[in-house]
Amino acid sequence: MESNSPKNLPRHVAIIMDGNGRWAAARGWPRILGHREGARNVRRMTTACQDRGIKILTLYAFSAENWTRPTREISMLMQLLKIYAVRERTTFMKNQIRFQVIGDTSKLPSEIQKVLKDTIEMTASNKGLILQLALSYGGRDEILRAVKAMIDAKLESEAVTEENFSKFLDTSGQIEPDLIIRTSGELRLSNFLIWQSAYSEFYFTDTLWPDFNEAELDAAFADFRGRQRRFGAVDLIAKPHLN
Ligand code: IPE
Ligand code: IPE
Ligand code: MG
Repeated sequence: MESNSPKNLPRHVAIIMDGNGRWAAARGWPRILGHREGARNVRRMTTACQDRGIKILTLYAFSAENWTRPTREISMLMQLLKIYAVRERTTFMKNQIRFQVIGDTSKLPSEIQKVLKDTIEMTASNKGLILQLALSYGGRDEILRAVKAMIDAKLESEAVTEENFSKFLDTSGQIEPDLIIRTSGELRLSNFLIWQSAYSEFYFTDTLWPDFNEAELDAAFADFRGRQRRFGAVDLIAKPHLN
């Protein structure tokens, strides 16, 4: 099937899963029901990405700025996260999914940290899709933590290269996101992967996260296939006279 072809398929897909609250509000329901449905969709989209041969799926689940939300919403989100990280273990093991987390997890409640750590360790040698949750994640915070770690490592200024700097980020060693998808009609990054997205392609859709499905994912991938990534160089295909 063409859509399953690895040709021009993004290797690393990152999704800003936005619109859970509005999805619930549209039904006259409390926001948490939107988050619950959003979590269900994480499962569906993880399977979809795995089936399509994606290597890394990074999901923005809770931002550094989301700590400013009402305590009740935060604690319910933490409960959902805990349930998810435990319940999905069987599926992760069965499907060879490697679970990872980026962000300042030290800010998460200790019982959540423990559950995440156990799931990460349990799946560490799985060889399939890397499923990475961005939790308590902020791009600026990540960059500052990297700068501090570089200072602590006493790096000489000549060693401060883009390549070395990347090694101090939470995404150390990973390919950068080829495609970043944001749902719910917002046209911004909201502090997501601001270093790593320097040359990412973007796909925005009005669909709210709980409604985002396989067909939309395929539409995003089809769109991606049509993009010409130049990385600042001259596009010799589009301008053959320069070849
Ligand atoms: C995204 O949905 C999930 C989180 C930020 C945890 P929102 O909760 O931001 O939903 P909206 O944007 O209010 O609809
Ligand atoms: C971004 O969504 C964070 C996540 C999806 C986890 P927000 O809803 O927090 O972003 P803003 O506030 O609309 O920029
Ligand atoms: Mg939102």
